[in-house]
Amino acid sequence: MKFDIITLFPEMFAGVFDVSIIGRAKEKGLVEINFHQMRKWAWNSYGAVDDRPYGGDVGMLIRVDVIDKALKEIKGEKSHIILTSARGKRFTQEDAKRLAKEKNLIIICGHYEGFDERISSLVDEEISIGDYVLTGGEIPAMVITDSVSRLLPGVLGKDESSQVESFSDPEKNIEFPQYTRPAEYNGQKVPEVLMSGDPKKIKEWQKKFTEKG
Ligand SMILES: C[S@@+](CC[C@H](N)C(=O)[O-])C[C@H]1O[C@@H](n2cnc3c(N)ncnc32)[C@H](O)[C@@H]1O
Repeated sequence: MKFDIITLFPEMFAGVFDVSIIGRAKEKGLVEINFHQMRKWAWNSYGAVDDRPYGGDVGMLIRVDVIDKALKEIKGEKSHIILTSARGKRFTQEDAKRLAKEKNLIIICGHYEGFDERISSLVDEEISIGDYVLTGGEIPAMVITDSVSRLLPGVLGKDESSQVESFSDPEKNIEFPQYTRPAEYNGQKVPEVLMSGDPKKIKEWQKKFTEKG
């Protein structure tokens, strides 16, 4: 899977995808993440990508011609284009699964007051990572890239399954509680059923948490 992230601040991503699971996936060639400095497609020689809104509102908007030029250069036949936006569709694990089937995700990170409305017509979908406003789309782009990447075949090791975890089945609740050693800590004991060695009883106990009541 190839990710192309269009941003004014590529340096914000430094290190985020270079370590741990995504770092290894990149080394193995399972994931490629490219950052594109939006100013490359600036509308003037000073590197401006934004402009004042018509109607006299406050703040600056990213211009449609800038994003159009960027997409024309980056887009391939199989690209799926995402605009990060606080008013977009709320991102869920189901969206991560759906996007993991794509070949190339282009993610556009906004800044300032947001985007010229006409940019919506250039993208496949607008995604919000939650009902709050961030300073820019970089953190949402990290969230989308991370959650999609870990679902790609071969990215998680055999001990890091994504099959039995929170939100893996929309019909079920979040993951059941899990414990490791020590068996007792500060008076808090691991539930006896988990120490029983009886797989049937353990499964029944776990099911109580994962079934929606
Ligand atoms: C300061 S915000 C713009 C907020 C916009 N004026 C509004 O009221 O919705 C700048 C950029 O950050 C990104 N952003 C902010 N909050 C976000 C969220 N919850 N989910 C996704 N992107 C977000 C978007 O790319 C947005 O264009």
